Amino acid sequence: MNESKDAHNQQNYETPEISSLEHEKWELLQQAIQAQHERMYIENELKKQQQEIKKLQQKLAEMRRPPLIIGTVVDIIEQENLQVRTSGGPQFIIKIPEKIEPQSIKAGTRVAMNKDTMALVRVLTPSKDVIVRGGEVIEKPSTSYDDIGGLEDQIKEIIESVELPLTKPQLFKKVGIEAPKGILLIGSPGTGKTLIAQAVAHHTNATFIHIVGSELVQKYIGEGSRLVRELFMLAREKSPSIVFIDELDAIGAKRLESGTTGDREVQRTLMQLLAELDGFDPRGDVRVIAATNRPDILDNALMRPGRFDRIIEVPMPDVKGLQAIFKIHTRRMKVSKDVDIEHLANRLNGHSGAVVKGVCTEAGMFAIRNDRYTVKMADFEAAVKKLLKEPHEGSRPGVMFG
Ligand SMILES: Nc1ncnc2c1ncn2[C@@H]1O[C@H](COP(=O)(O)OP(=O)(O)OP(=O)(O)O)[C@@H](O)[C@H]1O
Ligand SMILES: [Mg+2]
Repeated sequence: MNESKDAHNQQNYETPEISSLEHEKWELLQQAIQAQHERMYIENELKKQQQEIKKLQQKLAEMRRPPLIIGTVVDIIEQENLQVRTSGGPQFIIKIPEKIEPQSIKAGTRVAMNKDTMALVRVLTPSKDVIVRGGEVIEKPSTSYDDIGGLEDQIKEIIESVELPLTKPQLFKKVGIEAPKGILLIGSPGTGKTLIAQAVAHHTNATFIHIVGSELVQKYIGEGSRLVRELFMLAREKSPSIVFIDELDAIGAKRLESGTTGDREVQRTLMQLLAELDGFDPRGDVRVIAATNRPDILDNALMRPGRFDRIIEVPMPDVKGLQAIFKIHTRRMKVSKDVDIEHLANRLNGHSGAVVKGVCTEAGMFAIRNDRYTVKMADFEAAVKKLLKEPHEGSRPGVMFG
């Protein structure tokens, strides 16, 4: 009976007012939970945005930072100071900052410095210059020994003095001689010097590093000699290797007493080359080939034994050689039966292989002009006539096709 009374009392409290308040309370609670969720979400979002701001500020600061200057360490003074030469020329003495390990710096190391304060910011890896990197032949040139007309003796000699020391060094040891360190190809323009070197690159398994002398002539003081140093560093790193310096006269010209700053810079590059040639072991696995058409202006020091001590002269082709070159350059052409290579070779006697190539190209052009695919003797005759008629006194015919 008592129980039923209690129940009755409770029922009495559940008036509509109370239940509506209860409901309101429940709704408010829900809203509070919702608001809390929202707050958490917004706080998260805020954190994200703050991080974003930080990132952008860092980026901005990086963009605003002045560019760094590159310098080369000349000397280390009393363990904590460096004598650094900047690429612009002047030298500075700077302190090694604490965060940089002194062991990572040697004379010759490249460093990055603040433009205004010259403070050392970073030690650069001894990466090779793009020019040096670009000189490394990864894909072999397609020129092979079969693409060279005549010059059999020269090819034999270059194989003997370049490939043999790399492939069979024990042979030289047994005989008790040293292989020539450097090979210099000399000869008139267009006689096939570059062609021979390309063929060597094609046939060898060694890394082939090809650089043109003029690329080593740089605008800034000290850059040229650094390139030479890096060139040989790369050669040693990738050995067995062959370094080919084409147009050596660009840096190898005779040193003169007087001279402009530019001349002195070229001389410094040459001196670095001489030092590199002296520095490596002749029995080692780096070979050097150079080519020039101006041996007369080369510095004598280059030709001293122990440097470019094997000189291979690439002569002007004789008539037989010219015939062979004609055959090579007409190999891929459609020539009519009346083309007399013997006769053409005789007409071009005294001219270089480059002229032969020029004549073949020009003859092909005449055929195209006449709407033909087959090249006739008349085209060749016209081409010879055109190329042998020297337009200006002293200019070389056919050079444009070299
Ligand atoms: N013996 C040869 N056989 C076949 N082609 C030749 C020969 N000599 C020259 N040529 C042709 O002439 C072009 C120029 O030759 P190359 O570049 O080797 O001359 P070079 O001796 O290096 O001249 P330079 O001293 O002017 O650099 C070659 O691309 C090739 O087509
Ligand atoms: Mg050449």
